[in-house]
Amino acid sequence: LRGGGGAPTLDAMAARTKILEGAESVTVGYGQGFLGPVIRMNRGETARLNLGNRIKEPVTVHWHGMHIDGAQDGGPHSPVDTGGVLEAALDIDQPAATLWYHSHIHQRTGIQVYYGLAGMLIIDDPDAPDSGLPQTYGVDDIPLVVQDRVFDRGGQMLYAPQGPTRMMGYRGSEILVNGAIRPKASVPAGMVRLRILNGSNARIYHFGFEDGRRFYQVASDGGLLPMPVAMNALTLAPAERVEIVVDFSAGATRLLSAPDSNMGMMGGGMMGGMMRGASPKAVADGGLFEVMSFAIDNSRTAAVTTLAKTLAGAPTPVFGEPVRRRRFALNMGMGMGMMRGGGSMAINGDSMDMAVINQELRLGEAEIWEVSADMMAHPFHVHGTSFQVLSRNGRKVDYASTGLKDVVLVDGTAELLVQVNRKADANQPFMFHCHILEHEDLGMMGQFTVA
Ligand code: C2O
Ligand code: CU
Ligand code: CU
Repeated sequence: LRGGGGAPTLDAMAARTKILEGAESVTVGYGQGFLGPVIRMNRGETARLNLGNRIKEPVTVHWHGMHIDGAQDGGPHSPVDTGGVLEAALDIDQPAATLWYHSHIHQRTGIQVYYGLAGMLIIDDPDAPDSGLPQTYGVDDIPLVVQDRVFDRGGQMLYAPQGPTRMMGYRGSEILVNGAIRPKASVPAGMVRLRILNGSNARIYHFGFEDGRRFYQVASDGGLLPMPVAMNALTLAPAERVEIVVDFSAGATRLLSAPDSNMGMMGGGMMGGMMRGASPKAVADGGLFEVMSFAIDNSRTAAVTTLAKTLAGAPTPVFGEPVRRRRFALNMGMGMGMMRGGGSMAINGDSMDMAVINQELRLGEAEIWEVSADMMAHPFHVHGTSFQVLSRNGRKVDYASTGLKDVVLVDGTAELLVQVNRKADANQPFMFHCHILEHEDLGMMGQFTVA
């Protein structure tokens, strides 16, 4: 699908999809049975999309990472009721980047995303200089939507957060990539670009290849990094995206992940045991599990065999001098209601209230946001903009290593440089929230206007 020209229709519908061998599961999707298609849009265009809601509850389509006005953002104030149609017109004006879209109904985001209301979105910039990166979609430029799911004995996908799995976030023991369990991709024996979205509700991945091979991060949430960054392990929190380039002239391999240990104080003891029950089967020492595998397709010659030292077309961050500082304390609460999974979560002591505007921003003014986490690491997300991470736990963060972000994993404290250049009024404000969807649904979210 491409925006700009005609008006493709995105239909959300309840469906049955075969995910586990021999069993069908109830799913929902945008225009298909499960998840949504990869949508590409060009900078400079107005993308027009229609969403007709054919399921029995309101849904939204939030354009995560997009720099658009609050009225276009698709947040919790923009529900599409059953039988209703949303006609979206999005003015695309931001650097090329890998984004995503998902439903964002207040207190229903976790379940709706889990059963399939999510997809990847790629913004291209036709006027940007050529970065020299692989760019043949599906051949050497491959989208990977990584999610974890629980299946019951009958092969039904199951979403039942309660007690600790609600409090620490809901994790699954099966890893899906683009809706398939541990798939295999055939790639040319050269440089291959992987656009990876962590579309999981709560799981943090610690990716690496089975043979320990080095790879290069070339982009983060908001677009290209100034230059490729070499690494052999990469942490990706919920809702974060990265683009990496891997050299497959070194042969076939598997993409693995280390287990997620983000369970705060609940990591040990009985609750830790329950959480570990949601861990995928290990394939290597240290508990590493398989995400997917790669085979070499020798019938194709690789289009790219070397990587440029700097990435042409990388965005230059333009922020003003920060004029104020705001503090965001993410609170998990510690009451007994919380332990039973019935409590609420908050930011600065306030649990999300659709009728309350928590912060008011001035259009185009840069600010420093100081975010502090409680009990465990939280992926903090801001709508309507991309920010720069200035520091983590008091240590300065180098822009070249993180680029522009819209989600940052806060483990302790982080300082962000935030400037929003799009408007949002009190009827359709922007959100800031933890992207562990169970935390978001329990109220670790707030709203802001921009005027
Ligand atoms: Cu991914 Cu408030 O969103
Ligand atoms: Cu968002
Ligand atoms: Cu959280």
